Amino acid sequence: MVDLSQMAEPFKIKMVEPIKIRTRAEREKAIAEAGYNTFLLKSEDVWIDLLTDSGTAAMSDYQWAGMMLGDEAYAGSKNFYFLCDVVKDIMGYKYLVPTHQGRGAEHILSRYYIREGDHVPGNMYFTTTRLHQEMAGATFHDVIIDEAHNPSKEHPFKGNVDIAKLEKLVSEVGEDKIPYITVGAPVNMAGGQPVSMANMKEVAGFCRKRNIKVVLDAARVLENCYFIQQREDGYKDKNIKEICQELCSYTDACTMSAKKDAYVNIGGWLAMNDEDFFIEAKKQVVVYEGLHTYGGMAGRDMEAVARGFKEATENDEIVSWRVRQVEYLGNGLMQADIPIVRPVGGHAVFVDAKAFFPNLPQDQFPAQQLAAQIYIESGVRTMERGIVSAGRDPATGEHRIPKLELVRITIPRRVYTNSHMDVVVEGIKNLWKRRNDVKGLKMVFEPESLRFFQARFEQM
Ligand code: F0G
Repeated sequence: MVDLSQMAEPFKIKMVEPIKIRTRAEREKAIAEAGYNTFLLKSEDVWIDLLTDSGTAAMSDYQWAGMMLGDEAYAGSKNFYFLCDVVKDIMGYKYLVPTHQGRGAEHILSRYYIREGDHVPGNMYFTTTRLHQEMAGATFHDVIIDEAHNPSKEHPFKGNVDIAKLEKLVSEVGEDKIPYITVGAPVNMAGGQPVSMANMKEVAGFCRKRNIKVVLDAARVLENCYFIQQREDGYKDKNIKEICQELCSYTDACTMSAKKDAYVNIGGWLAMNDEDFFIEAKKQVVVYEGLHTYGGMAGRDMEAVARGFKEATENDEIVSWRVRQVEYLGNGLMQADIPIVRPVGGHAVFVDAKAFFPNLPQDQFPAQQLAAQIYIESGVRTMERGIVSAGRDPATGEHRIPKLELVRITIPRRVYTNSHMDVVVEGIKNLWKRRNDVKGLKMVFEPESLRFFQARFEQM
């Protein structure tokens, strides 16, 4: 028998925002004006906005009510202390430094731990994380398992760290040159793929012996914990909060973009157990973000963050529904034989642009083109996650050529219904039929760093 409780959204809608679809001719004009870069489209020209799940969530009534309780004192806001309590309860870290979003925390972390010439391993890169490491003088090393670089390879924990790769790096550069490892759980760039508890424990065991800190990139950690609950032996009777507490216990610190799993539009934090790091981070946050009791957030923002994170761990239905909606979209695309990264991850479905446009070489930006064409076809906004996002190697100046050339269809939390997901599938099916007529792009404007945000292209 079908479990009725699993069939529909665990919420009802209290406020709506009208959206309109532009005509195909208007969309063709809009994307050309945006230099075939979906980041440069005006939001008004987008019908279904699946650019990112970051800062795009719909807040609950409990969160909105909290917004009215903002204590906007410059120092010592009560919302800050509530946030500290909530994070400590769910993650267990002793200390918290608020930041305006995740990259603010990455900045402070990188400046504190990295010395010129250091090496920082991670389970695949994230754009802002790696840039902060490089700007602080380190070289990034990808130590994710090989399976993560193969879109069609099924693996329950494709985000896992390959201990052999980590060991090899240590033997090459020496443990003294590795201040920390960043473990993203889950791994955004690999397709939202989770890390297993067993792997996290193994990483911690390896690193603690060598005095290498373990830093969790916790952007979507609750979704990772949901996958552990569903897929890993011994966790099916634990709730997401208990799993999160255990996962964090194997790490020394975390950077958090609250814009994802705390169901808010802005916010973040840096949390740690080391007191010296805490003292130094408080000094830094004052310079770059704001006082150490608000870090760039208004009091009401901190309240919304705390309430959102608390709610999402008090009732597993919230995260469970969210991940299952992503799976719904993935299943729709797989049934239509569209090549996507498997298994479907927690926050997005990733289309394999190399398989979609096998005739386009990677330096003609197949994923960039695919995102532009999806918009023209259906008014749906997605994001390139391939050669443009990977940027250039700072040492050689050449394009980095990632194995994965993907378009990310990212689902904001609690914002769209499954009817919107059906539209996405139909639009991509239409595009699939005309895929052989699509040509490559050439880049005509290229910013020096994080080029994917503002680069411009023309049709070849
Ligand atoms: N780490 C991961 C895994 C992320 O996905 C992001 C942001 C960050 C760190 C940085 O956090 O944006 O709050 O400064 N990801 C967004 C995205 C931008 O669309 O995937 P931030």
